[in-house]
Amino acid sequence: MNFKSKISQIIENDLQTDAKLQQICDVLKNNYPHFHWVGFYFINGTKQELKLAQFAGTPTEHTIIPFGKGICGQVAVSNKNFIVQDVSEQDNYISCGIDVKSEIVIPIFQKDKNIGQIDIDSHDKSPFTKEDEELLEYICEKVATLNLDGIINQPPF
Ligand code: SME
Repeated sequence: MNFKSKISQIIENDLQTDAKLQQICDVLKNNYPHFHWVGFYFINGTKQELKLAQFAGTPTEHTIIPFGKGICGQVAVSNKNFIVQDVSEQDNYISCGIDVKSEIVIPIFQKDKNIGQIDIDSHDKSPFTKEDEELLEYICEKVATLNLDGIINQPPF
């Protein structure tokens, strides 16, 4: 089975949304050797901040990230993919560990609103490919089809 089919299978299974997101984190981390930390951040209600949801990898103390801060916070306001092949070149960066060398963040949109993102850290420099970016965009589109109301802590809009 190809990886996109695996993701579709997770999205369509009978589990709750949080369990599906956890499975996606786990399969990505377990199948992509350069993905050392995989997590989802979502908007935290009406606050101007992101809150960590499911993740696979070492726990981080950065469970709340204000909009504009770090790579994640910048994507919350830019609405654009952010691929950082070398985090040492970034000034606006929140370190989640000395081992992390690179990071990719892809936003998730529901009804054109940026409601969260997938964030991946790598211990390798320049590991991320166009294929990675395209796969993660696919995953974000699939995640956007889930009922995320309980996770983004907002009534349906
Ligand atoms: N490095 C991120 C913070 C989140 S951790 O990577 C888990 C950033 O700069 O926003």
